Amino acid sequence: MATDGMLQPSKEASVLPGIPMRSGGARARIAVIPGDGIGAEVTPEAVKVLKAVCAPTDRPLEFFQFDWGADKYLREGVTLPPGAVEMLRDEFDAILFGALGDPRVPSNQHAADILLGLRSKLDLYVNQRPVELLDDRLTPLRDRTEKDIRLIVFRENTEGLYVGVGGTFKQGTPDEIAVQEDVNSRKGVERIVRYAFEYARANGLKRLCMSDKSNAMTFAHGLWQRVFNEVRREYGDIDSCHLFIDTLAMEIVRDPRQFDVIVTCNLFGDIISDLGAQLAGGLGLAPSGNIHPGKTSLFEPVHGSAPNIAGKGIANPLGSVLTAAMMVEFLGWKPEALAIRAAVRAALKENCVTPDLGGNKDTVEVGDWLAKFVEKAAPASSSRKS
Ligand code: NAD
Ligand code: IPM
Ligand code: MN
Repeated sequence: MATDGMLQPSKEASVLPGIPMRSGGARARIAVIPGDGIGAEVTPEAVKVLKAVCAPTDRPLEFFQFDWGADKYLREGVTLPPGAVEMLRDEFDAILFGALGDPRVPSNQHAADILLGLRSKLDLYVNQRPVELLDDRLTPLRDRTEKDIRLIVFRENTEGLYVGVGGTFKQGTPDEIAVQEDVNSRKGVERIVRYAFEYARANGLKRLCMSDKSNAMTFAHGLWQRVFNEVRREYGDIDSCHLFIDTLAMEIVRDPRQFDVIVTCNLFGDIISDLGAQLAGGLGLAPSGNIHPGKTSLFEPVHGSAPNIAGKGIANPLGSVLTAAMMVEFLGWKPEALAIRAAVRAALKENCVTPDLGGNKDTVEVGDWLAKFVEKAAPASSSRKS
């Protein structure tokens, strides 16, 4: 992983003396957690593009890199170090995350502690996963174009089947029992449903679909039904509907044009966002944000560590780069976000892409191309200051 230009955290990670900064200011402090596999290959490219897009402006970004991941876990037994959550919450504006997952850690303990731990402990209840076809040739759907595939998935990100409540009984015997509880709170469901409606309204999106499996999971998703039916009454301007998740999976393939905003639970949101990603060109292109409005939030591509291509230098960095665009938009820097997205579109048009998208460039070549593009395209700095 290239660490060029990045400050390394002090040994005592929780001690990072008083650097003032919260969202939306002229400067931003970003914690970078590249993680495992291709996470460590694509994240430096996103950082490179961020540095390039901010170079002509008065908006310096400070990057601090953290080596949390499988290697550290295997070496030191440390996943999320003590004090890490408070440090991220108090000293950073945002977190740029790569991916976690390593065949040497079959339990995935480090990902549970670091990724799911941060989602939960920073209370990042919104997992925002846009699905946007950026170039017609990228969709596997016949006769679909850019205007047909443009939707956004809001995944509840702190509850459901991900809370880790459960256990095994008589493990290793023929009588073994395994339990994994689906935990849904009224507050948790309401805030993500409400967020999705508010997002639709604020962005002029007219249709919202809530998806659950309340026909089978009558208790947990009965709550989703009741909350949704109550909240939707406040949003008469939005055309809201409900689909069971199995039907949604089918409909999103049959006719993706019918969806603007989808809101669903943690597990279904995970699955439907990979399906959506593929409709828009594949996992290599899909960005996401783990957000709590107004608080330090974490941005990561939808894909994982891809052990099957890790180390080959061919991972697609566009998902991570588009994630960086989401992050700067969250920080309030719209022109930079637009400049990054324009660069990605241009790379796709020029076929300056990795093999997963049919190109012959490697990860670093794509990152270099994007960095040059945003540098060249940068408008006069004075027009881009906040
Ligand atoms: P994956 O997303 O890593 O890979 C799925 C497929 O997509 C693979 O064929 C891979 O090569 C391809 N792919 C993914 N990203 C790509 C990119 N940027 N460029 C080109 N091809 C890309 O999913 P998986 O194989 O199921 O999981 C591998 C590991 O990653 C597991 O340990 C899993 O738990 C973990 N994971 C982590 C995250 C995360 O950290 N957010 C997300 C998903 C999976
Ligand atoms: C994702 C990933 C994670 C999830 C895994 C790594 C636990 O698939 O971010 O989409 O299921 O949330
Ligand atoms: Mn996933």
